[in-house]
Amino acid sequence: MNKSLYHLENLTQVYRDRTVLDVDRLDIEVKTITGLIGPNGSGKSTLMRILAFLEKPASGRVTFRGQPLSQVSLNLRREVTMLSQEPYLLKRSVQTNVSYGLKIRGISDTQHPVRRALEKVGLDPARFSQRSWRELSGGEAQRVALAARLVLKPKVLLLDEPTANVDRESSELILRAVLDARNQWGTTLIIISHQLTWLRQIADHILALDYGRLTCVR
Ligand SMILES: Nc1ncnc2c1ncn2[C@@H]1O[C@H](COP(=O)(O)OP(=O)(O)OP(=O)(O)O)[C@@H](O)[C@H]1O
Ligand SMILES: [Mg+2]
Repeated sequence: MNKSLYHLENLTQVYRDRTVLDVDRLDIEVKTITGLIGPNGSGKSTLMRILAFLEKPASGRVTFRGQPLSQVSLNLRREVTMLSQEPYLLKRSVQTNVSYGLKIRGISDTQHPVRRALEKVGLDPARFSQRSWRELSGGEAQRVALAARLVLKPKVLLLDEPTANVDRESSELILRAVLDARNQWGTTLIIISHQLTWLRQIADHILALDYGRLTCVR
C-alpha cells in the first residue's frame, strides 16, 4: 500500500473531448504544504476538485490514505476541506456561516472556536460575528469562508487562491494561519496561488501546471 496521503497515477480529466489534465504521477505526503501555480486555464482548480472528491477523473488512479477513490468512506472524505475559488457563503450571519461545519459535525458549543477562527483571518469577532453576508466586502467574504474551514481544524485543507482578493496585511495573516494549521494540527495543505513570493514563504514543494501537465518547480 502506498504511504502517501494522495497518490495519483496517469490521471486525466477531459471536458467535451478536450484533455485539460494529464498527470503522470503525483504523491502528496502528510503534513506538507504544496503550492500549485500555473497560468489561467492550466487545470489547477480541476486537479484540486478531484483531490477534494468533488469530481471524478476521466481516467487514472487516485488513492487517498491508500484507498482507491471509489472506496473512500464518508469519514475519510470529511478529513478533506476545500476553499473554492469563488467561495460560497450561506445567506446568513458570519457567525452562522463559520459555525455551520461544526454544527453538522454535532458540535454545539461553537462560540469560542468561531471567535478564534475569525481572529485568525483578521476579522474582529465583536464587529463581524453578527453581520449579515450582505454586509461584507469581497475580501471579507473570502476571509469568512476561510475561517469556516479553519474552524474545523481539518486534516487536509485545499485552498484555491485564498489571497486573491485580500490586502497585504490579510495575506500575511493567512500565511500565519496556514503555518499554524500545519504546525498545531498537522494539517496537510495544497494551495493554489498566483502570488509566487507569498507561496515560496510557506510551501515545502511548488508544482507548476501548464496545459494540464505537471512539473516540479521546487
Ligand atoms: N466544467 C467545465 N466544463 C468545461 N470546461 C471546463 C470546466 N471547468 C474547467 N474547464 C476548462 O478546463 C480548463 C482548466 O480549468 P481550471 O479551472 O482547472 O483552470 P485553472 O488553472 O484553475 O485556471 P484559473 O487560474 O483561471 O483559475 C480550462 O480550459 C477551462 O476552460
Ligand atoms: Mg482556478
